[in-house]
Amino acid sequence: MLDLNQFAHSHDLLEIVHRDHLSCVRKTFRSDVARARRNVEKQRLFRPLYTGMARLGAAEVLEFVVHADRAELLMPYIEGMTGHMFPVHATRNVAHTLSVSLSTLLYSELNESREAPVATSIFRDKLDSVSSATRDSELKRLVDACLSVVEALPAEMPFPMGPCHGDLTLSNVILDPVSGITLIDFLDTFLETPLQDVAKLKQDFVYGWSFRKDPPAMTIKAEILCRHHFPQAIVQIERMYPTQVRLLTLLTLARIAPYVKDTVTQQWLVRSLTDCLGATSL
Ligand SMILES: Nc1ncnc2c1ncn2[C@@H]1O[C@H](COP(=O)(O)OP(=O)(O)OP(=O)(O)O)[C@@H](O)[C@H]1O
Ligand SMILES: [Mg+2]
Repeated sequence: MLDLNQFAHSHDLLEIVHRDHLSCVRKTFRSDVARARRNVEKQRLFRPLYTGMARLGAAEVLEFVVHADRAELLMPYIEGMTGHMFPVHATRNVAHTLSVSLSTLLYSELNESREAPVATSIFRDKLDSVSSATRDSELKRLVDACLSVVEALPAEMPFPMGPCHGDLTLSNVILDPVSGITLIDFLDTFLETPLQDVAKLKQDFVYGWSFRKDPPAMTIKAEILCRHHFPQAIVQIERMYPTQVRLLTLLTLARIAPYVKDTVTQQWLVRSLTDCLGATSL
């Protein structure tokens, strides 16, 4: 039996179950049930988008049940490729469809958002706690360098505030050339802004998070696909909010630091943070 948990990083349990001839995925949340409810609500309320090439929707919420010690989400099992499978299976056409669809999603989120001032101290506070929780000395030094970047910023900065997926990595995107693109694993975030999705997509398209453990030949194919099919919306939104996108990209990367357990991820994170800290747009 396929064990979906091998693809998951969180402690939520994923099981395949069968209901009325339909294969489903049951996800059990054991920690922070209130947050799980907010995550699932985002998934339920997501309105599908049509890009001309593909439909982009969320996995349907068939059932969401809250028990005393856990919450359970039931959704259909979605066939398709995800995350680290893209470089192995994606053709140029598929990569193009994905890129255009992700751009449509980002533009739609941006259209629905409103600009509002955000206190930069919230980023400092987040980075402070990341720094305290990071044991690896090389990573801690880089997280502290991110803190210095934040300390040099004005007290407030404008952000487009509005809907976002919240954890838009390629492992939360399921792509099927026939049925289109399905988003899973929505996340309630500390700052609801489309720039969160831009930062998470950069983590994959620029830094290759989802492919970091692939064999070198696949990593090269992934890099080429990501370079040639970089979502245009990221380029444009970065032009509008260069400092804000860089700030959230640094924070997105830095937040991985306390959880790093293997050398490949440690080296990947050192390279990615060093590169992002050296980027010139701030
Ligand atoms: N409804 C679904 N249909 C098909 N595959 C699924 C479905 N839900 C989850 N998966 C598979 O299981 C993986 C992990 O699921 P999910 O992202 O919900 O878990 P997670 O524990 O929050 O993972 P992570 O923390 O890594 O994002 C997905 O990347 C996908 O490969
Ligand atoms: Mg996930």
